[in-house]
Amino acid sequence: MSAADDEHAAPAVRAMTDADVAAVLALERRLFPHDAWPESFFREELAEVASGTRQYWVAVAADGAVIGYAGLMCVLPLADVQTLAVAPEAQGRGLGTRLLRLLVDAAAARRADQVLLEVRSDNPGAQALYAREGFAAIHTRPRYYPDGADALIMQKPLRDLDAPTSASRLRS
Ligand SMILES: CC(C)(COP(=O)(O)OP(=O)(O)OC[C@H]1O[C@@H](n2cnc3c(N)ncnc32)[C@H](O)[C@@H]1OP(=O)(O)O)[C@@H](O)C(=O)NCCC(=O)NCCS
Repeated sequence: MSAADDEHAAPAVRAMTDADVAAVLALERRLFPHDAWPESFFREELAEVASGTRQYWVAVAADGAVIGYAGLMCVLPLADVQTLAVAPEAQGRGLGTRLLRLLVDAAAARRADQVLLEVRSDNPGAQALYAREGFAAIHTRPRYYPDGADALIMQKPLRDLDAPTSASRLRS
């Protein structure tokens, strides 16, 4: 494969490890200047992977640079998008969509009945991505972020949420 091919190859996506935290943190501080997670959050989240409630991935360019990451919390029946980020130089090429679909597929594989996420009300780009992928705004949390911005709660149902679950059918 030539260097030019390498440059345009789809980034590899693999599980995030502790060794990725420094690179992820550098990206986090660039992408979320108002509310970057501290290092301890990432380490605590990765420590929860063993419990089965968290899954984290990184996207890696051909040169080994971390250019994106995504995380999911799944405590049934809910799944939450914990984070989703793509480096500015890699944005607009479908990587955000790919990572989001990975999160939704992982939630579905765990039989979550819905996926929830919070997104800043002043982040129309991310909201457009989520809406295109079947998320709808269900609630606003005023002044949720440290700089006073509101959070929009968005939801993607993975089954008919009005239908009774097998558990509720048993009780009735
Ligand atoms: C949101 C983010 C993850 C999208 O990643 P990406 O790789 O650029 O996404 P894609 O290339 O798959 O684009 C998917 C859609 O996102 C939307 N979108 C992304 N950036 C946008 C922008 N700046 N303006 C408008 N729409 C945008 C579009 O709907 C786009 O679909 P289209 O290409 O059909 O127009 C990325 O912009 C990012 O990391 N932003 C900073 C961090 C952030 O806001 N994370 C989300 C926190 S909730």
